[in-house]
Amino acid sequence: MKILIIGGGNMGLTYAKSFVKSKLVENENLHILIKPNHQDLSNFHWGKIHTSPNAFIVEMDLIILAVKPQDFFQLSKEIKQFINPQQVVLSIMAGISIAKIQSLLNTQKVIRSMPNLPSQIGLGMTVYSSANEVTRLELVMVQNLLNSTGKSIYTNDEIKIDAATSISGSGPAYVFYFMNSMIKSAIEMGFTQAEAELMVFQTFKGAVELFGNNKFSCEEWIQKISSKGGTTESAFLLLHEYSIEKRLINAYEKAFEKAIKLGKEVELSRV
Ligand SMILES: NC(=O)c1ccc[n+]([C@@H]2O[C@H](COP(=O)([O-])OP(=O)(O)OC[C@H]3O[C@@H](n4cnc5c(N)ncnc54)[C@H](OP(=O)(O)O)[C@@H]3O)[C@@H](O)[C@H]2O)c1
Repeated sequence: MKILIIGGGNMGLTYAKSFVKSKLVENENLHILIKPNHQDLSNFHWGKIHTSPNAFIVEMDLIILAVKPQDFFQLSKEIKQFINPQQVVLSIMAGISIAKIQSLLNTQKVIRSMPNLPSQIGLGMTVYSSANEVTRLELVMVQNLLNSTGKSIYTNDEIKIDAATSISGSGPAYVFYFMNSMIKSAIEMGFTQAEAELMVFQTFKGAVELFGNNKFSCEEWIQKISSKGGTTESAFLLLHEYSIEKRLINAYEKAFEKAIKLGKEVELSRV
């Protein structure tokens, strides 16, 4: 299988490295298309670098679109002539619908996905959807590639890609927000920055591992930690009083609405 990744930025290079490292693709079968003025990638050994779109694209089985959404309109004009109907196109671009990609590249086999930043360390979460024209075998091939960067969920419902943007896409930022509030509080209570960071890091890691290794829900774990009249309970009384959970859910919903809105704006503007 020959794969072309278009865009040698954070995600494009992460994908190249993950695919080759996981041995899902041979180094010589992985191609990366970058702009001629892109930073020097001579030390990057995961794939063959190209600086201009030309006939080699026709030979690719899978083309991955890893450019910013606002660059896609220009890119589509450059590569459209080299796309053939048998090729599968996988987009990781936020906001651009399957229908739009099909129309701009004049091809049908399109898969759209939303990865997240921990893909960089093999702990990513990707939600993806596809056009009806993509075969089951092609979907499995793409799923294997996506799973080399973490875990994935397939959905028939494209709107869930925007929903995933607000949960798993933005999610790491929510986690950092919680971690930061705990680090700040620990420092105020007298710990050094390094001590506070270690305490909070280990607390998150431990809680996440407990969740992943047992059947209990988050609510059940909270119950296990909160003894009657104890410290955790007093913290939660205040969290409930301020309706923190409801407000957080409102925030995730806001991100979902914004993902839909941004998608529409991107489609209406240059794309
Ligand atoms: N980063 C994330 O955590 C994340 C998560 C989920 C989804 N995504 C999606 O992944 C995509 C890529 O994100 P990123 O963070 O990797 O962005 P990035 O670091 O900016 O990389 C995009 C690369 O594409 C290059 N490019 C633009 N037009 C091109 C063209 N015509 N031919 C070849 N290369 C071209 C850019 O070059 P120039 O810089 O020179 O323009 C840049 O190097 C985006 O659509 C984003 O929505 C990212």
